[in-house]
Amino acid sequence: MSPRQLLVTYALPYANGPLHLGHLTGLIQTDIWVRFQKMQGNTCTFVCGCDSHGTPIMIQAEKSKITPEALTEQIRSSHIEDIKGFLIDLDNYHTTHSSENQTLSEEIFTRHQQQGNIIQQTILQAYDPEKNMFLPDRLIRGDCPRCNAADQYGDNCEVCGATYTPTDLKNPRSTLSGATPIEKESLHYFFRLTHFEKFLKTWTRAGHLQNEVTHKLDEWFSAGLKEWDISRDSPYFGFLIPGEKEKYFYCWLDAPIGYMASFKNLCARRPDLSFDAFWNKNSTAELYHFIGKDIIYFHALFWPAVLEGAGYRTPTAIFTHGFLTVDGQKMSKSRGTFILASQFLKHLSPETLRYFLATRLGSRIEDLDIAFDDFIQRINSDVVGKFVNIASRSARFIHSHFGDCLSDTVADPRLFSAGAEAGERIAGHYESLEYAAAMREIMALADQANQYIDAQKPWLLIRDPGKQSEAHAVCSMGIQLFRQLVIYLKPVLPDIARHAEAFLQCGALMWADKNTPLPSGHRLTEFKPLAQRVDPKQVDALKNEK
Ligand code: MSP
Ligand code: ZN
Repeated sequence: MSPRQLLVTYALPYANGPLHLGHLTGLIQTDIWVRFQKMQGNTCTFVCGCDSHGTPIMIQAEKSKITPEALTEQIRSSHIEDIKGFLIDLDNYHTTHSSENQTLSEEIFTRHQQQGNIIQQTILQAYDPEKNMFLPDRLIRGDCPRCNAADQYGDNCEVCGATYTPTDLKNPRSTLSGATPIEKESLHYFFRLTHFEKFLKTWTRAGHLQNEVTHKLDEWFSAGLKEWDISRDSPYFGFLIPGEKEKYFYCWLDAPIGYMASFKNLCARRPDLSFDAFWNKNSTAELYHFIGKDIIYFHALFWPAVLEGAGYRTPTAIFTHGFLTVDGQKMSKSRGTFILASQFLKHLSPETLRYFLATRLGSRIEDLDIAFDDFIQRINSDVVGKFVNIASRSARFIHSHFGDCLSDTVADPRLFSAGAEAGERIAGHYESLEYAAAMREIMALADQANQYIDAQKPWLLIRDPGKQSEAHAVCSMGIQLFRQLVIYLKPVLPDIARHAEAFLQCGALMWADKNTPLPSGHRLTEFKPLAQRVDPKQVDALKNEK
């Protein structure tokens, strides 16, 4: 089979705050998949970027007395730091506030306009008469119309769970000025989603989505598709709509186009990549979007319709993940369960989170929890106690008795082939996003390798002058099995794998290397500890960060 050409994206985090462990969950899920694809010999490019547009970012910049451009660039740099810190192998972290994105957004909008997919309609909207701006629902607070709870958002009540529109609120006021909002007319642009109903009904049922997502969409189809408001009035931080002076594209129009823009920006410095080859209608490359469950509507309905109508290819698949909770609770600042990427890295290594998440991630859209007791237990027992232990207990003898060289024989070829065969199943799990199943299978192999060493007792053999070559063969077998495990864990533990490759003196391992053992007499370098146990004190220190 010729190598596949893949382009992979992760949802663009808003540029109004640093990355937290929720963002990292999705980024790590995506990164593991990308690294796995590369190990298969596929060409895989991974792009992301920050979502820089919108009212919240504009307001935050105003509060910090800097321009939104400066704010979003600062935050973008902090995201890039965190992404590196968690070993995410990203090819580009661009921004939606870029020239590439502006050009593409205008072009896509114009194509839709020419095809009659854009209409204009006057709408009534809440307006702050002191601040002189239209107010998004989130910037209006008041008393809940159902339970009278004070100080609730304009779209839903946190006390009784009611959802409503801001006009239903009692005693509404603008959170910007405190003024009572008035209603004002404005002419808005709408994307005619209904033009794409037939296309979408087919597309959403054609295997591009997880079944749970397809069912969710069926509910939305039954409720009836609505035309989509894609404009916002000035003041706004975004791109002006062509021909307008006071109206901007709504940030959710240009945000997914930001995937294309990030890739286009990358193409300019990567002669091996061609924008058209990936985005043309008849592209044979594969396109995957990884997202969280809260943004399905935008990705599975609007986005395919926007692409289809503008004459571009549509995604091969959209992979949706659930939400991360910490010790069973929603991440929240007030509960102290809100953990920033940078805070985590002050106390724990990135690979502890990567491995823990891998043991929790599957292809279904389920929320996942970091219970810290469990977290400590998983790392110490699996990564240190099972996996790394195989190398350290074998390497010791090979170093002190056999000059760092492997024996001439593979002591248990059947055990080695069984490990190689398991690699086929593990690959299947990675490909289908069943990481938890992959980790279970890998740890079962690690158990087998440890049991093999336990049964052969090299520490006894080594004391018997007549059994030196047997001891050598057993320890070498341990190293051969360890190397298979390094291959299988490499998408999850890239740094440990890199150090293991240095120890094994074997170059960058690819998936297919699982089938061939290291050659007889192969020389290793001295073994250095590859991972450290997590001390509960580190976790306490992280929890006490706030
Ligand atoms: N800017 C939009 C995405 C535009 S994509 C064209 C956005 N940004 S976000 O910062 O709110 O979220 C970015 C990603 O992080 C989304 O996939 C979202 O689902 C994910 N997560 C945010 N909090 C999360 C958790 N607590 N748990 C898991 N993922 C979470 O949405
Ligand atoms: Zn209420």
